[in-house]
Amino acid sequence: MHARCLKGELLTQRIGRTPLLRLERLPRRSGVGPDVQVLGKAEWFNPGGSVKDRAALRIVEDARREGRLRPGMTLLDATSGNTGIAYAMIGAAWGFPVTLVVPASIGDERRRILQAYGAHLIFSDPYEGTDGAIRMARELAAREPDRYFYADQYSNPSNWLAHYEGTGVEILEQTAGEVTHLVAGLGTTGTMMGTGRRLKEANPDVVLVGVQPDDAFHGLEGLKHLPTAMVPAIYDPSLVDRMELVNTDEAFAMARQLAREEGLFVGPSAAAAIVSAIRVARELRSGVVVAILPDSGVKYLSTQLWQ
Ligand SMILES: Cc1ncc(COP(=O)(O)O)c(C=O)c1O
Repeated sequence: MHARCLKGELLTQRIGRTPLLRLERLPRRSGVGPDVQVLGKAEWFNPGGSVKDRAALRIVEDARREGRLRPGMTLLDATSGNTGIAYAMIGAAWGFPVTLVVPASIGDERRRILQAYGAHLIFSDPYEGTDGAIRMARELAAREPDRYFYADQYSNPSNWLAHYEGTGVEILEQTAGEVTHLVAGLGTTGTMMGTGRRLKEANPDVVLVGVQPDDAFHGLEGLKHLPTAMVPAIYDPSLVDRMELVNTDEAFAMARQLAREEGLFVGPSAAAAIVSAIRVARELRSGVVVAILPDSGVKYLSTQLWQ
């Protein structure tokens, strides 16, 4: 039979509509009351393995439609990993080249995954972190504007719109509108800005809880320590009702606990979101606390987290 006769779907159609999983044991053991649910949005179910598939897809779709990413052009961005993996996957699936500026300190797993998808990597100063990568990507884009489509996830509204029209709507549907709290880590802040805006529109009483590392030097990959980092242009601090600071060791301990006690093998930023969700949930008599779990633990196997 010819392939055209078979039912098939595009890889990118698998992005979004991720499961919302209820934590069964950990909340009660941590002193959360019986009328409070803690739910995790399992973003590693996206084909590229993280929440960033959503933003990358929307950024590419919008840029192609608006003629900013034209045939022959290369997508360029600065990324610490997950957005890069998403761009590289979509680029390979749709047939456009992808160049990424990544800090030279990038984990082994991430580098190898990016190279497997065929992305071209440019390494920036590891001591300058993602901010150094952003500066280098800006310079490259300014030098060759016809060659590169500079996706600029930190300033691009398509980033948060992906969550406004995707993640936020899904959470409202999956909780039948009963969500009371959203807990999300802040990196580019796209997840919080988009999901938060949609939830607030549906119910202004929904409490938006942002999660940040408690120190500039941290192991919570994907999250920014905003007081010392370049603040993303898409970030509106007035949207966030409450800020939780999480220590790296505390998040790592939670990641190990989630794997053993809930069967949830998550990355450090997801664990930090659950640390914060439990803090919030403990204070409530009743409520539905939704935490965004950006990725799984697989890419962190070689880090201190699992040693
Ligand atoms: C593992 C991980 N967690 C959290 C985030 C933060 O998400 P956002 O950029 O939407 O704020 C990212 C972003 O790259 C990430 O890779």
